[in-house]
Amino acid sequence: MGAYFGVSTIFVFCLLGISANATVFTIGSSSSSDITQALRKAFTSACQSPYPTKVVIPKGEFKLGMIELRGPCKAPIEITLQGTVHADGNTNHGEEKWVVFGNINGFKLNGGGAFDGEGNAAWRVNNCHKTFNCKKLPISIRFDFVENAEIRDISSIDAKNFHINVLGAKNMTMTNIKIIAPEESPNTDGIHLGRSDGVKILNSFISTGDDCISVGDGMKNLHVEGVTCGPGHGISVGSLGRYGHEQDVSGIMVKNCTLQNTDNGLRIKTWPSAACSTTASDIHFEDIILKDVSNPILIDQEYCPWNQCNKQKASTIKLVNISFKRIRGTSGNKDAVKLLCSRGYPCQQVEIGDIDIRYNGADGPATFQCSNVSPKLMGNQIPRACGSPVTKTN
Ligand SMILES: *[C@@H]1O[C@H](CO)[C@@H](O)[C@H](O)[C@H]1NC(C)=O
Ligand SMILES: *[C@@H]1O[C@H](CO)[C@@H](O)[C@H](O)[C@H]1NC(C)=O
Ligand SMILES: *[C@@H]1O[C@H](CO)[C@@H](O)[C@H](O)[C@H]1NC(C)=O
Repeated sequence: MGAYFGVSTIFVFCLLGISANATVFTIGSSSSSDITQALRKAFTSACQSPYPTKVVIPKGEFKLGMIELRGPCKAPIEITLQGTVHADGNTNHGEEKWVVFGNINGFKLNGGGAFDGEGNAAWRVNNCHKTFNCKKLPISIRFDFVENAEIRDISSIDAKNFHINVLGAKNMTMTNIKIIAPEESPNTDGIHLGRSDGVKILNSFISTGDDCISVGDGMKNLHVEGVTCGPGHGISVGSLGRYGHEQDVSGIMVKNCTLQNTDNGLRIKTWPSAACSTTASDIHFEDIILKDVSNPILIDQEYCPWNQCNKQKASTIKLVNISFKRIRGTSGNKDAVKLLCSRGYPCQQVEIGDIDIRYNGADGPATFQCSNVSPKLMGNQIPRACGSPVTKTN
């Protein structure tokens, strides 16, 4: 695409008008045109406006190159994406980003439109799920240091890498987000969050190739409710403890969610021989429905993919005040519940409420294994809590 804003008449960038509420910039408009320059210009003008502004990308199919929309801005900004923006299908990227929203205080993104990462060709060359030394691919949507934000009615399709990454956010609510990529697409985490405070993810649908939601270090006060996940790798806190300078995790609530056909359900994972010694506390899962989920409940403090660590050393990450309540449905394997805590720092204040997880395979029934943890039990547990001997992790 060699055409740019101002060069061709297809790229109309118009100031629709100044209303009492907000100035509106509309970008458009013939189909399959590249709106990268037009969007950058509209955002720059919007960001400099002393009044609230709105940037509208109308219905239609557009190409969008790598773009960073960064503040600080003089007033709140709303971006309404009604159409679909498409990334290029290249596999050759040095950058870990496609669309970045950064350093904006007072931000809205909505409109019912979609970000299509066109990841198909990139997945085939991706080897990041096999090794750490790999070529990173672009994350579709990054929110870096965005505050007081409302993201709603937006889809992400076929990201090359993570769909959405949230870093340094404060007070952000995501509602009715739809995330879709094939089950076999590598590293396509739905929403990854870290080092943020006060994020809500509500009434959303995530079906992808890796974790639906993954929580990294430094996350505080995350509330996930009404999310349907699957296929995918479930909802995961961690992995924690691989790097030095990590921060504590606290206040994670996951409630009223459905997991269907996922590998892993509700998971907390920390590396043995951790590079740091942080605490992950106040992590609660409740009212969760499982439909054929492998490893529905898993605390794994010996997480060590590709043997990249010394498993002889106990994890130094402390897990405190963790609960699983009212979790029911079916497991895809026999090991339904595994709480494998650190030898060096046994899990503290773990509560298990009503659990009813069934497994119908020939090698059944389901098991519930515990090590280095003495959970407080409330209500009924099927299988019987800590009723099975610990078997080796995979
Ligand atoms: C959080 O952000 C929303 C905008 O999305 C705003 O209306 C609300 O006042 C903010 N809350 C706080 C405590 O700042
Ligand atoms: C639970 O979440 C589903 C969407 O997944 C929603 O339809 C339902 O109303 C929620 N129930 C409660 C009690 O919040
Ligand atoms: C456990 O976590 C909950 C939810 O964050 C919190 O309200 C409660 O005070 C915590 N309990 C302890 C003993 O810290």
